[in-house]
Order: sequence, then C-alpha cells, then structure tokens
Amino acid sequence: MDYTLDTIGQAVSLLRLRGEDAESLHHAAQQVKHRYVGDEVYLRGLVEYSNLCRKNCHYCGIRSGNTSQERYTLSREEVLQAADYAYKSGFGSLVLQSGERQDEAFVSDIESLLQEIMQRTGGELGITLSLGEQTPRTYARWKKAGALRYLLRIETSSPELYARIHPADHVFQTRLDCLRALRDTGYQVGSGVMIGLPFQDEEQLARDLFFLKEMDVDMVGMGPYIPHEQTPLWRERARLLPPAELYALCLNAWAVLRLLMPDINIAATTALGTLHPQGREAALRIAANVIMPNITPFSARSRYVLYPHKICIEKSADDLLPHLEALIHAAGCRLAYHKQGNSRHFRTPAQYSE
Ligand code: 5AD
Ligand code: SF4
Repeated sequence: MDYTLDTIGQAVSLLRLRGEDAESLHHAAQQVKHRYVGDEVYLRGLVEYSNLCRKNCHYCGIRSGNTSQERYTLSREEVLQAADYAYKSGFGSLVLQSGERQDEAFVSDIESLLQEIMQRTGGELGITLSLGEQTPRTYARWKKAGALRYLLRIETSSPELYARIHPADHVFQTRLDCLRALRDTGYQVGSGVMIGLPFQDEEQLARDLFFLKEMDVDMVGMGPYIPHEQTPLWRERARLLPPAELYALCLNAWAVLRLLMPDINIAATTALGTLHPQGREAALRIAANVIMPNITPFSARSRYVLYPHKICIEKSADDLLPHLEALIHAAGCRLAYHKQGNSRHFRTPAQYSE
C-alpha cells in the first residue's frame, strides 16, 4: 500500500480505508510514531477553570445562549490544589482550559495563577493554556507569567463551514490571526478540528489535516463532534455519520495526521473516548503521545459539558494513575512521569527566521 501524502486526493483515499486496509494504515502510522516520538505518553492534567463563556458557538453546551447551564468559576485555591496534585503525582504538565472571557479581571486572575503555580513548582510543571481568542498583549502577559503552550482549535479550516457553525460575530480570520500571534509570542502552538461535523465531507477533513500541516502546528487536539441537545446544531443531527462510521473515520484521521506530521504531539482526546470505550487506547496505539486526564475538582465536572456523556474514567484522584497506567500499557506505550513533554517539532520564533 502506498502512503504517499502529497495531495488532498491521496489523503481522502486513506481516510476511506476500512477493514484490513485500515489496519495496515494504522500500522504504518504506528511505526512512524515510534520512530519519531517513541513510545512515551505525556500526561497533562486538565483543569476546567470556568464554564462562563462570552461566545455562542452553535455546537457547544457551555455557549452563552444556553441558559439552562449553571455557571461556575473555580476558586484560586481549587486551581492551586489541582496543580499541586499534578506536580506531586509526577504529571509533567497542566492544561488550564475555560470558556472565553477577555475582561481584565479574568486576564489578571490567570496571570497571577500562572505566577503562583510557577513559583510553587520551581517552574517544573509545563503549563498549557486553552482560553480562546485573546489580544496579542494578553498572550504576551500570560507567556511572561509562565505559560509554555497554547491550544486554540480552528474547528474547521473551511471559512464557509466555520460561518455555518458559529454566529456572525465569530470571525474565521480572527482565529487565524490569533494562531499567528501565538506563534509570534513564542508559544508551542496547538490547534485542531472537530471530525464528523454536519456538512463536513471526507475531502474537507483531508483539507483540515493539510491545514494543520501548513500552519506548522506543534501539537494537535482533535476529536469527534458529539451533538448537544441544547445547541442550535442539534437540529442537523440527521446529517451525522452513524457512530461506528465516525469512529472508523476518526482512527484513520489520527493515522493520516501522524503520517503528515511525524514529530508533533498528538492528544488522545476525551471526545474520542466518549465516542468509543477503546477510543483513547486506539489513538495512543496508532498515533497519539499525549493524554489529558481531567483533574478538575469533582464538584465542578458535571457543569463543564461541551458535549453530552463526557467520560470520566477517573472515579477518584487515587484511581487515576492506576487507570492511566493500564490504559497506556494496553496501547503498547509507557507513561512518562515528571516530563514536560514539549513538542519535538517546536522551533522558537528566532529559529523560524533563520
Ligand atoms: N462535540 C465535540 N467537541 C466539542 N467542542 C465543543 N463542543 C463540542 C461538541 N459538541 C470542542 C471544540 C472546542 C473544544 C474546547 O471542545 O473543538 O475547541
Ligand atoms: Fe465558548 Fe469554546 Fe464553547 Fe465556543 S467552543 S462556546 S468559545 S467554550
């Protein structure tokens, strides 16, 4: 089988493989993964800081228009406790994620949390932010305060589809500008898309994967789209792929991405684990080298509902590491304790201009 990936058409053919042909594709991706990033899996403790969001994306359960969603913001103490837990348990890094806010109170709360976590952990805990679109000045403040990496999904690389799944004031070009600003600020930059969106065909998904390559991102977090009843996109659910088809497409997409970008960090995302009980394990076996276990305080977890039935294998903090060990071992990989796990793909802005 030929796994050349120069054209969109070649990628579409690979995305369509099923059965033994798909298994061969997954095997080819697995070999590339082991050659370029090895068998270590990096741990990022995910802290869902707040479900307050000024945006109103048509697919997301915590959109501002969903008035039936109770809102919360973690206290400073709760975030610091989660960071301490991650640090003491040997997690190399932490992801601070939240709905989008741009007011000064929010920006400075994050800034001071970053400073405090850096101080408590002697700068050892790598911090990733996933806090949406911000000004270049805010990105620079948070970088200075200690953040290393930033995740901002493009969601879809098609401006037309982007316009269909967002309200009119959510602008595709602004997202692109933010991704460029993040790179210029010196972050390791992560992005990603949703797979199986209504009106997204295989060709569009192939274009999305090529987009991530063209943007030269350092990390990718992508996942299946899962419809949420209290969102406008729910009404398009008749257009969606059956779950088994979506799952097969997702695994092929992970494999194609690893073939396209051999040395980046790829996450085995929670949404894939929600779609299929073995989803995260399969992603780790085929292509992924990062896992982001949820370490948000239990009291808040049920309110960070981007999509329904979100999994949470970690029944308690004590169960978490044995569960992860078993999952990662089953995928034929090793858990990397105490490692920040920076993307091998990353180059500093100075290296870019060389
Ligand atoms: N299904 C899957 N992923 C979703 N996200 C938001 N809503 C959904 C959904 N219904 C993802 C988006 C966003 C990330 C934080 O969560 O890709 O960037
Ligand atoms: Fe807010 Fe992000 Fe959800 Fe959009 S996807 S409504 S920006 S939390």
